[in-house]
Amino acid sequence: MSTILVTGGAGFIGANFILLARKLQWANIVNLDKLTYASNLENLAELKGDKNYRFVQGDISNLELVNYLLQEYQPNAIINFAAESHVDRSIFSPQDFMQTNVAGTCQLLAASRFYWQKLPLEQQKQFRFLQISTDEVYGSLQLEEPAFTEDNPYAPNSPYAASKAAADHFVRAYHHTYGLPTLTTNCSNNYGPLQFPEKLIPLIILNALAGKSLPIYGDGQNIRDWLYVIDHCAAIYLILQQGKIGETYNIGGLNEQTNLSVVEKICYMLDELVPQLNFSYSALITFVPDRPGHDRRYAIDCSKIMTELGWKPQESFDSGLRKTVEWYLHNPLWVSQVHSEAYQKWLKQNYENRGIV
Ligand code: NAD
Ligand code: DAU
Repeated sequence: MSTILVTGGAGFIGANFILLARKLQWANIVNLDKLTYASNLENLAELKGDKNYRFVQGDISNLELVNYLLQEYQPNAIINFAAESHVDRSIFSPQDFMQTNVAGTCQLLAASRFYWQKLPLEQQKQFRFLQISTDEVYGSLQLEEPAFTEDNPYAPNSPYAASKAAADHFVRAYHHTYGLPTLTTNCSNNYGPLQFPEKLIPLIILNALAGKSLPIYGDGQNIRDWLYVIDHCAAIYLILQQGKIGETYNIGGLNEQTNLSVVEKICYMLDELVPQLNFSYSALITFVPDRPGHDRRYAIDCSKIMTELGWKPQESFDSGLRKTVEWYLHNPLWVSQVHSEAYQKWLKQNYENRGIV
């Protein structure tokens, strides 16, 4: 079986990918994660005792460590999930995003290149570096504009998006200049189990259950294209297997929703699953001051991966959202663990000046 070096595998999408990869025996996995606030090793607890899974705590910027891991485990592929991933945090601390998302990716590329160049020819041909990127690099769409294709020019608006765009350019340059066999995926908003509650969907579920306000930025009419995380993971593996070297692939949910509509759907599900007497969770909805520079609409045209590789999302938004809400309801221990002091501090920083805590 092949070996994949996964970075950022203790976070939301990386952990879902690793769990699926081990369950379906896609590959042996080495997981390199710095264990920032967004990570949780409990996400991978079920892999305890799995001889084909290794966890290493460390930073993708640590060239010496990455060189060592590549020599020691001889992976056939690297999938770079590691990133600072929250737009709101990037507005407060853009430098952290530059450090991991740009400089970290550059270090990982440098180590990958030296490792790949020294591989025997057969292994060189098989090797892939897969960069997990985002639709946010394309900027924002007006309502009437067509969805982003792979040919859209980059126009990142937030510090987070700018850092991901910069990283993507380095990946492209490593392919163009050194021939490193790279692949890049630009995916829309993910949702599902294990997502850190700073992001919209888990934040709303957990605030509602706690009887707290449900903060909606601006007028709630911003649009995102939601994809269930397992569909994203399946797309990543398919691209790793069959994607054309040097190319980029958009991955999307074919599922555009306004934020207000997402929040209302969660409220109706909770009304059914955890009913309260004479009260709908939607009464907690509170419009709050907008995110600075808030992108109005993202939409992904994923016809390339659908026609060339035969992928399509399997989960409907209703079924995926129900699974997600139920997962948070059934995992109170996980929820209590992520509600750390540091997270409370973040909530204060982001929401206090919006009139709610
Ligand atoms: P996340 O914030 O949940 O997890 C990120 C993980 O990376 C954490 O475990 C963290 O500890 C680790 N990490 C951070 N800095 C690191 C470093 N310097 N070295 C090693 N590990 C480090 O993020 P996520 O939502 O799982 O996103 C994963 C990737 O997918 C990111 O690259 C993100 O840009 C991209 N992406 C996310 C979405 C989404 O909706 N969540 C959509 C498209 C693309
Ligand atoms: O599009 C892909 C991107 O999706 C990923 O690259 C990012 O890593 C991921 O965080 C996500 O970015 P968003 O900014 O779209 O996700 P977030 O969950 O933070 O917000 C979704 C929408 O909800 C957005 O329009 C802002 C709004 N929002 C968010 C929060 C946290 C609110 O209205 N209220 C909130 O409290």
